[in-house]
Amino acid sequence: MLKDKNILIGITGGIAAYKICNLIRLYKKAGANVSVVVTPNALNFVTKLTLQSLSQNEVYSDCFEIDEYKPEHIALTEADIFVIAPASANTISKLANGICDNLLLSTACAYQKQILIVPAMNTGMWNNKFIQENLVKLKNSGYSILSPSEGFLACGTNGVGRMREPEEIFEETERILNSTKKLAGKKILITAGGTKEKIDPVRFITNASSGKMGLALAQQAQNMGADVTLVSTFKAHGFNNIVTETAFEMEKVVKENLKENDCIIMTAAVADYRVRNYSEQKIKKDDSDSMTLELVKNPDILKEISEEKERPMVVGFCAESENLLENAKSKIRKKGCDYIIANDISRCDIGFNTDENEVYIINKNLQTKHLDKASKQEIAKKILEEIFE
Ligand SMILES: Cc1cc2nc3c(=O)[nH]c(=O)nc-3n(C[C@H](O)[C@H](O)[C@H](O)COP(=O)(O)O)c2cc1C
Repeated sequence: MLKDKNILIGITGGIAAYKICNLIRLYKKAGANVSVVVTPNALNFVTKLTLQSLSQNEVYSDCFEIDEYKPEHIALTEADIFVIAPASANTISKLANGICDNLLLSTACAYQKQILIVPAMNTGMWNNKFIQENLVKLKNSGYSILSPSEGFLACGTNGVGRMREPEEIFEETERILNSTKKLAGKKILITAGGTKEKIDPVRFITNASSGKMGLALAQQAQNMGADVTLVSTFKAHGFNNIVTETAFEMEKVVKENLKENDCIIMTAAVADYRVRNYSEQKIKKDDSDSMTLELVKNPDILKEISEEKERPMVVGFCAESENLLENAKSKIRKKGCDYIIANDISRCDIGFNTDENEVYIINKNLQTKHLDKASKQEIAKKILEEIFE
């Protein structure tokens, strides 16, 4: 499965760096092309000569040694997967904060496909609050993390922090690359965020949707090889992104792109109502103690596209604060879409503006599948696997 794949390995300054020699051999044996980028500190643990001999390729370490027309960190980003192993506490923290002060970090920052982080460190470092927070940040941004195991550490103690064995990293690489092909050739349009219904030039009505679930779906769909269009109420980087503000604008874009997509996933929280009379001028405060805004119904995008005769697969989301399953089942019947993903917004640990979710996937026949609480990235991956099964 790794034959002819281009694998980029990033090595940082950890004692487990020597084990990467074996990982390179496993990849090479499987027929992969291996390139290696190291941090300057990694070269205290392994030599360029060893890595070069095993990978049969040049080993990159310096941003400023540019021989070819392309800067290295851009050329290296053409690999199919970037495996950072061992990932030191230092590099993990820099990655999570967009710091690019060496070639490995600059490459990771520019890299658009799947990055696998394989941490290795002393137990105290692993349990450090900031390291854990930075790992969560990376996980929520779509990085894969192969967590360390418990065992004897180079510092002479026993505990969590031991890098996974080369064979396990190899298997994880295969698993990730396998899933990256799953949606190859599929075109998916995903909507995200809460629409903004304007009252006057400075005010609008919106809702608590952060767009994180839609972003996670877009990221995972892209990782799985799909051609993704993200229609969102905020600017998103790394996607073909169309920004819309109101329900009307979103409706227009979704309908215009309906037929050319294989699937539409409506995670956006589209306002049910908009203000009837938009005021061209800012509304001034007057002497009265109250004011009335008249609202009129917005188009029901999910229902309208589900009713189209020739349409792709349509997936809707519903956020309910009570009777979750009952309301979700009634919604899928009313809207006529293929799947409804239901989440409970009465809980403050999942749903709106959080990094985790717990959902039910309901199909047209009202068959229901529960996904346990997990990061929105993991939930997104499972939703995509289920609906494209
Ligand atoms: C002998 C030795 C072993 C080390 N092992 C680790 C390790 O396993 N994990 C880690 O996070 N840092 C380890 N460090 C500390 C890192 O080398 C240090 O934080 C360095 O700044 C990492 O730089 P880099 O992330 O740019 O490679 C070790 C340091 C020494 C001297």
